[in-house]
Amino acid sequence: MTLDVIVSKPTKKSEFEECFKVTQKAWTGLPCEQRIPEHIMQASDRTSLFRIAKENSRVVGYAMCFNAKENQIYLHAIGVDGKAHSKGIGKKLMDELCKDAREKGVESILLTYEPFKTNNANLYIRKMKGQVIGFELDAYQSTNDNGDASTDRFLVKISTAQEDTPVREIPTNALIQTKVCKVKYSPAGNMEIIRSGGATFDHKGFCAIEVPSSIKHIENHGQEKEFGLIYRDVFTLARQVGEIVDFRTVSEFNQRRNFYILQQRK
Ligand SMILES: CC(C)(COP(=O)(O)OP(=O)(O)OC[C@H]1O[C@@H](n2cnc3c(N)ncnc32)[C@H](O)[C@@H]1OP(=O)(O)O)[C@@H](O)C(=O)NCCC(=O)NCCS
Repeated sequence: MTLDVIVSKPTKKSEFEECFKVTQKAWTGLPCEQRIPEHIMQASDRTSLFRIAKENSRVVGYAMCFNAKENQIYLHAIGVDGKAHSKGIGKKLMDELCKDAREKGVESILLTYEPFKTNNANLYIRKMKGQVIGFELDAYQSTNDNGDASTDRFLVKISTAQEDTPVREIPTNALIQTKVCKVKYSPAGNMEIIRSGGATFDHKGFCAIEVPSSIKHIENHGQEKEFGLIYRDVFTLARQVGEIVDFRTVSEFNQRRNFYILQQRK
C-alpha cells in the first residue's frame, strides 16, 4: 500500500487551525486548555521545526519541535488524526523531521513518552531506532487529579542519520521465554503482571519486559497507580542491568503482546 501523504512546512494560518483540530482527534478526550494553542504552533514554526502531514489536501498530522542544544532538537508533540493511525503517517513525519534537522546540522531528536503507550513505543523505538537514554520519574509531577496515572516517562534519543543506524536483529520468539516481567490475561479479560524477580537473559544477552496491550487496557482496569508503581520498579531494575534497545509486538491467539527488549550490559 502506498501512502498518499505529503509532509511539508505549513504556509497558511488555516493549516495551524487544522493542526489544532488534529490535536483533538489524536489525543481523544484532551481538555480544551491542554491543547496546543495555535500561537504556540506558529511560534514554533518561526523558531524551529514544525511540519504538517496532508492526505487529500487535508491536514491529518503534525510534529512540533524546539531547539534543545546546538545540535539537538526536542520533539514537543506529534499527533495524527485517530482515524489515520497505523498507516505510517507518524513515521513519515519523523523521517521528514530527521531529514530537515540533518540539513540544519542537527544530529539527534530528543523526546519523552509514556512507556505504556505501545503505539508510540513502536514508532519511536522500533521504527525510528530510538535509544532509551533516561527514565524520568514524575516528569509532569504526580497527577493525582488525573485518575492516579503516574507521569513517568522514557527519555529517547533518535539519530537524524537514520540510514547509518543498523537494523536490529532480535530473535523475538526466544525472547518471550526470557523475561523481567510478563502479562497474563484471563479469559474474562482480567490482567495480572507476573514479575520474575530479576532479569532472565538468553544466551545472546537479551530479555523481554512485557507491557499491557495498550494504555487503554490499564485504564479500563482502573489500576493506573498500581501498574505505574510496578513498572517504575521493573524499568528501574532493568536499566540497572541493561539497556532497553528495542520494542516488538507479537500476535498470539488474536491478542497483541508488546515487549520492550532489554540487552544485558557487558
Ligand atoms: C504516536 C502517533 C503519532 C503515531 O502515529 P501513526 O501514524 O499511527 O504512526 P505509524 O503508523 O508510523 O506507526 C505506528 C506503529 O504502531 C503500531 N500500533 C498501533 N497501535 C498499536 C498498539 N496498540 N500497540 C502496539 N503497536 C501499535 C502500528 O501498527 C504501527 O506499526 P507498523 O507500521 O509496524 O504497523 C499516533 O498514534 C498519535 O497521534 N497518538 C496520539 C498522540 C500521541 O500520543 N502523541 C505522542 C506524544 S507527543
